[in-house]
Amino acid sequence: MPGEKPAHMSANIIDGKAIAAAIKEELKAQVAGLPVAPGLATVLVGDDPASHTYIRSKHRLCAELGMRSLHHQLAADATQEQVESVVKSLAENPEAHGILIQLPLPAHLDEERVLALVPLEKDVDGFHPINVGRLAMKGRRPEFVPCTPAGCMRLLERSGVELKGARAVVVGRSNIVGLPMALLLNHADATVTIVHSRTKNVDSILKEADVVVAAIGKANFIRGEQLKPGSCVIDVGINRTSEGLVGDVEFASAQAVAGRITPVPGGVGPMTLIMLMENTLKAAQKSFQVRELKVGGPG
Ligand code: GUN
Repeated sequence: MPGEKPAHMSANIIDGKAIAAAIKEELKAQVAGLPVAPGLATVLVGDDPASHTYIRSKHRLCAELGMRSLHHQLAADATQEQVESVVKSLAENPEAHGILIQLPLPAHLDEERVLALVPLEKDVDGFHPINVGRLAMKGRRPEFVPCTPAGCMRLLERSGVELKGARAVVVGRSNIVGLPMALLLNHADATVTIVHSRTKNVDSILKEADVVVAAIGKANFIRGEQLKPGSCVIDVGINRTSEGLVGDVEFASAQAVAGRITPVPGGVGPMTLIMLMENTLKAAQKSFQVRELKVGGPG
């Protein structure tokens, strides 16, 4: 058919599942060498089934890596004081090297106040305002980088995508993905555009993008004909439809145009989880170093 690409020219799939599996083995070996198992504490307010599933998979992966996990479950109508008291107790708990508060919190809770209670050195989600502020500033380094954008960056790195001077477009501006992703790409010297619901000329912006990160939460929102041939497409979307799980990018049409593309599932999802484990390991390692300094330092 005229215009159709031969099969060998179709986009290279970036296999997030395989990359995450390789990182998992590296982390497992590092965990085994530690004096104490790193511990991840999760906090879930309410009974959203998707959040329960995410939390379960985090705990399962902790166990597979030889890490410990603890979970605090609060009722959907928990008060601000109750949630804050749990986070404060975890902040003091030496077994919780990392603290993850599953978002979104129910609307009656003040998310900003809750997240600010997580100590910087336990902020494995990278959502503390100081960590986000550092991520936004030149020459500053956050203690931890949010897991989904960190996973996307790792996929780009491991796929050998050149970011310096590249045009990168992030579709979506959420606190969890879009915004920190744009900041990370900026640090990597890409020229970054954020596309959101009020953006005009979306098509012309996408057409110039060497890298597209789709994090808008709308099934099949971006189609192949909007992309620049040879571009790299990272699809963060996980949308449940009657046809099963699909991303924010229409996979078949995008695959025919892009140079590289992540599938859904099996792309960004496994990377988010493994980045959380990596951050928790890092948090534990840092806490051991602090303890050694205290023990070995001047009395
Ligand atoms: N909800 C959706 N994604 C995330 C995430 O990466 N971390 C937390 N804490 N909550 C989320």
